[in-house]
Amino acid sequence: MNDFSTYGRVSARVYSWLIDPLLSSLRREITATCLAHGVTDVIDIACATGEQCRDLQRAGIVATGIDLSGAMIERARKIGPPEIRYVQGSALSLPFPTESFTGAILSLCLHEHPAHERERMISEAVRVVRPGGAVIAAEYSPPGRINRTWVLIQVIERLAGHEHFYNFRKFIQAGGIESVVRYLPPVTEQRSLFQRTVKIIVAKKG
Ligand SMILES: C[S@@+](CC[C@H](N)C(=O)[O-])C[C@H]1O[C@@H](n2cnc3c(N)ncnc32)[C@H](O)[C@@H]1O
Repeated sequence: MNDFSTYGRVSARVYSWLIDPLLSSLRREITATCLAHGVTDVIDIACATGEQCRDLQRAGIVATGIDLSGAMIERARKIGPPEIRYVQGSALSLPFPTESFTGAILSLCLHEHPAHERERMISEAVRVVRPGGAVIAAEYSPPGRINRTWVLIQVIERLAGHEHFYNFRKFIQAGGIESVVRYLPPVTEQRSLFQRTVKIIVAKKG
């Protein structure tokens, strides 16, 4: 398929070396959340290098990762293991039938998109989850007071490029993850991480 992603080979490498290690506790939290909510097979939407999928797979959850970037998918497949299925495709139009999984993960992938795409990504995530399953979203949430983690996040998002930073700022101005809750099924659980700069939300599909 055509690769319209701004994430090329260098980005994939930098993501593996710099960002993935910073997010290891988030991966563990998301995997624990899946286990707690009976998620047995999950789609990780915008999976990047596959770090979340590997954590899920180690916990016995069947993981599928999808990402628009060919370079990210190439890196994820190279790291393996081969039991994890990686698909190059768009979160805006997931190439899976309705009700294919018991869970869908949207981790730190909404903020870099304009509002209409965020809504579309969520509706696609909800579509592919079976009734009784869970959509697990992890996203930025502006903390009440500026702290060191929030400053670091601003720097990382600024370095990610002009359009990325523009969409990030719009997302934060709208309220961060709270601004997308209305597109999700009923929220049954939420908690904060990283000095209250990131929130994990669990939404159960009826
Ligand atoms: C911030 S990164 C990775 C987020 C990752 N889920 C994590 O928790 O580390 C965002 C990822 O979204 C992917 N992406 C951007 N637009 C996408 C789209 N329309 N469909 C699927 N993936 C997309 C990028 O290629 C990139 O790998």
